[in-house]
Amino acid sequence: MKNITVIGAGTMGNGIAHTFAQRDFNVNLVDISANALEKAISTIGKNLDRMVKKEKITEKEKISTLSNITTYTDISEGVKGVDLVVEAATENKELKLKIFGQLDNVCDEHTILASNTSSISITEIATVTNRAEKVIGMHFMNPVPIMKLVEVIRGKATSDQVTSTIMEMSKTLGKIPVEVNDAPGFVANRILMPMINEAIYTLHENISSVEGIDTVMMLGMSHPMGPLHLADFIGLDICLSILEVMHEGFGGKKYSPCPLLIEMVAAGKLGIKSGEGFYNYSDGSRNKKVAAQFSKN
Ligand SMILES: NC(=O)c1ccc[n+]([C@@H]2O[C@H](COP(=O)([O-])OP(=O)(O)OC[C@H]3O[C@@H](n4cnc5c(N)ncnc54)[C@H](O)[C@@H]3O)[C@@H](O)[C@H]2O)c1
Repeated sequence: MKNITVIGAGTMGNGIAHTFAQRDFNVNLVDISANALEKAISTIGKNLDRMVKKEKITEKEKISTLSNITTYTDISEGVKGVDLVVEAATENKELKLKIFGQLDNVCDEHTILASNTSSISITEIATVTNRAEKVIGMHFMNPVPIMKLVEVIRGKATSDQVTSTIMEMSKTLGKIPVEVNDAPGFVANRILMPMINEAIYTLHENISSVEGIDTVMMLGMSHPMGPLHLADFIGLDICLSILEVMHEGFGGKKYSPCPLLIEMVAAGKLGIKSGEGFYNYSDGSRNKKVAAQFSKN
């Protein structure tokens, strides 16, 4: 396998394209938005510059990584002759079902179709294709070039052969894959999202401030990043979508998204990618500056 396509050039798509390209795969990066593609290439360039500065890669490796990536706005052009597609478009079930139906029509018969979805059922995604045995979850973590884990999710029909191909490919990328079965939120988000949601409820109920809540979890539980800062990093829209999928799948208050989260997403406060979430990032930095004043009062 040498030729791959990444669908979606947002937070995750650019990281996935970067990671494959750095390991010498030919990467086609597809997005409906030409602007998103331009931004993705610029982000990959900046991240590679940082790696050169830290002497993790050479200038030559940076240039060859960038030259391994070609961008497309047309999905059928972007998947020609590829062995694997990794879909990392917006977390929305209808959208993903539409994309997978389209991919099944335009991809070669042998092409494996993977989704980077955080929570949507791989089994359900596979039903819109005629190759359910070749549909699998490949859940990278953010930021992709740095984080070691890949959650490899088997749908009900995913074959052993496809699973072992994706497990091996993850290792080729320098990652550590963990095989899990299909269920809402899989393992990572089923455990993480209730904690983030509870942190938001704690803020909503005015139990403490943004910084107070994050400090409790960092100093008290040795978490490297507080849950509210992590939510900003993931994207509040993504957190909301994941909680909605888990709420639909499991029911109960535990997964019911906090009204404050719903309110912030409606207001366009999506975290780092929009410049503001629980913290303010309006200078373009990925680090929190000033806590935004979000509480009931
Ligand atoms: N953000 C995270 O920390 C994180 C972590 C793991 C997995 N994920 C998952 O990765 C996926 C992408 O999340 P993200 O944070 O990168 O989202 P994002 O909002 O940053 O980017 C999504 C991109 O998809 C593009 N897109 C929308 N419809 C498309 C289509 N039909 N064809 C091609 N491109 C299309 C958008 O233009 C946008 O550029 C989601 O399924 C999400 O759940 C996110």
